[in-house]
Amino acid sequence: MQPFPTRLLRWYDGCRRDLPWRRTRDPWAIWVSEVMLQQTRVEAVRAPYERFLARFPTPAAFAAASDDELLAAWRGLGYYRRARLLRDGARQVVTAHGGAVPGQRDELAELPGIGAYTLGAVASIAFGLPEVAIDGNVERVVARHRGLRESVETAAARRLLRTILEQWLPKKRPGDFNQALMELGATVCKPGTPDCANCPVASDCVARAEGLTTTLPVRKPPRAAVDVQARVVLVVDRGRALGHRLAAGEANAGQVELPGAGMLTSCEAADLANVLRERFGASAAVGPVLATVRHAITHHRITLQAHAATLRRPGSLQWFALDAATPWTTPSRKVFQGALDTDAPRQA
Ligand code: ADE
Repeated sequence: MQPFPTRLLRWYDGCRRDLPWRRTRDPWAIWVSEVMLQQTRVEAVRAPYERFLARFPTPAAFAAASDDELLAAWRGLGYYRRARLLRDGARQVVTAHGGAVPGQRDELAELPGIGAYTLGAVASIAFGLPEVAIDGNVERVVARHRGLRESVETAAARRLLRTILEQWLPKKRPGDFNQALMELGATVCKPGTPDCANCPVASDCVARAEGLTTTLPVRKPPRAAVDVQARVVLVVDRGRALGHRLAAGEANAGQVELPGAGMLTSCEAADLANVLRERFGASAAVGPVLATVRHAITHHRITLQAHAATLRRPGSLQWFALDAATPWTTPSRKVFQGALDTDAPRQA
């Protein structure tokens, strides 16, 4: 039997997906793609990736981005903290490395926002350095292939995974090897039921031999879902809506949200006017529901109801344009679609 890396790379050479970030060796483009791919599926990254690089083709371009430009460029991807860290990293590339992403492992590792995974991915894919890149897909493939029965979240299991991968890593093609593992995890050795019939390394896979493919990898159970019944008011005037900007330190800082008690706080319809007075010093007569939308954030399942309202006093609330340039939160945008894009506002 051929060694694991040989079989894996031969398979990858035969069926690798043609992805935009696989057509470049530009370390900035590869860095951007790896940050975007960390919590987001490949298909959801394609369009934002192209749009982002057209707008910010170099670290220097992104280093100069304002908060609103950053939020607009990252729209559709969520987890905006990643974008802020990427901008911190781009700024350091400009100040400490003359605008060129450094090609030394230790210099890369010092950049803000570059953790162990991103370091391994950028170093190996862009610079051909012998570094492993361990994401959830890679963990799953190795835990199954080696029959790792302990939780992959323990420090000992993480060390073991890293050691196994470092032994496999082919010095000539580290970037392709890392991407081949991710590809295998995403398309064959999938969460749930894997497609072992089409796996290039199934013949010596311990999980397959011992019937453990659906039990491995072992992870802590996810947090129980919490249902939230959130409410906001939708007050629209001349292409603008009343909103407030989320403060630094809050989730989604810098974005603009419709006024209410917050997305993670349940609120009765009868309490909404009081909430607006206490939170924003605003006075409004709250009317019927115009739209009901759903949104999930981490383990929160949010049902958000947007009420019509007549404004008497805006307090600290402000008018924001209903356009692509205003960084409205995703739940707020869902409300606009539900309430404004239809001919007749829906009643809940
Ligand atoms: N997930 C994270 N990085 C990836 C890459 N380079 N190719 C495919 N999937 C990925």
